[in-house]
Amino acid sequence: PLRIGILTGGGDCPGLNAVIRAVTKSLLRQCGAEVIGIHDGFGGLMGPAPHVRPLDWASVSGILMRGGTILGTSNRANPLRSEADAERTLAHAHALGLQALVVIGGDGSMAIAHGLSQRGLPIVGVPKTIDNDIVGCERSFGFDTAVATVTEAIERLQTTAESHGRVMIVETMGRYAGWIALEAGIAGAADVILLPEIDYDIDAVAAVCRARAQRQRYTLICIGEGAKPVGGERTVQAWLPDSPDPVRLGGVAHALRAALQPRLDCEVRATVLGHVQRGGAPTPFDRVLATQFGNEAAQLIMRGEFNRMVTLRDGRLGSIALSDVVHGTRQVPLDHPLLRTARQIGVSLGEPA
Ligand code: F6P
Repeated sequence: PLRIGILTGGGDCPGLNAVIRAVTKSLLRQCGAEVIGIHDGFGGLMGPAPHVRPLDWASVSGILMRGGTILGTSNRANPLRSEADAERTLAHAHALGLQALVVIGGDGSMAIAHGLSQRGLPIVGVPKTIDNDIVGCERSFGFDTAVATVTEAIERLQTTAESHGRVMIVETMGRYAGWIALEAGIAGAADVILLPEIDYDIDAVAAVCRARAQRQRYTLICIGEGAKPVGGERTVQAWLPDSPDPVRLGGVAHALRAALQPRLDCEVRATVLGHVQRGGAPTPFDRVLATQFGNEAAQLIMRGEFNRMVTLRDGRLGSIALSDVVHGTRQVPLDHPLLRTARQIGVSLGEPA
């Protein structure tokens, strides 16, 4: 029978277990394959020794709704860092009898997957990120869950902001893309939404807060971690697979608070939501999308279509060559309809009036 490995790489994301479950069930049911779960991302294959366990029907039952990944993941393990690491990784795959490997990860993991596939290991990739910023894939699982989490947080901040007559700033994840801030900002009724795609004017933001203070007492500002003021420096750094010590900066909510407070009479408070956005159970939407992605990966394997990544384009599942997976970020386009909606209903995007 076929022997297929599966691993999750990079930052975790709600829905990873749903993908693992769908890949495993699809392969078990449709071709009786043996599925080998690899622990802690590429690290479990790279070693020193392989860290794996077989996945059967029982090991993937009951995990659909669980956040995180039952296999564990890692940002750090990169078998392409040295030739010795790459060779050891491939030797372990060979010794395990893996005919193919499913890699569930972001663009960093796909770059590694591509490198290993060029060295002869057949791979199928499944894109994941809460940021929804993968080039060529219009929706990634985990995003809907992150938006739901941030929306709930904004709602909670609304009531305390109102009680105190404060300006509340909430910072979301998303790296260089503003999808989470934009959708959760709209869903949570934020008054100001600041995105990495549109540099904000601090005086325009202050003006919105002062105008609202006349009427509604409080203001809710939702800011993506990659946002910056006009003329300011971007503080967020992308995670790079080759960096020995990947650091995510951010803290833009505190920078905004410091700039805003002297311009206002009311109190300003900042909340950085952080990794709470990546935790917990996936929403029903993400469970469905992740299940479709996982099943699609299994179909690619059974058709022998390797070295490709599953995608969603124009609402349809498909795949693209790993060599065509573009390293980079799918930002919110400046003509996106949701930006127009925001402006038209009076949500400020931090632009000068
Ligand atoms: O890409 C997903 C993401 O959660 C980003 O939104 C965030 O900037 C980054 O990962 C955080 O990475 P880490 O978990 O390494 O701090």
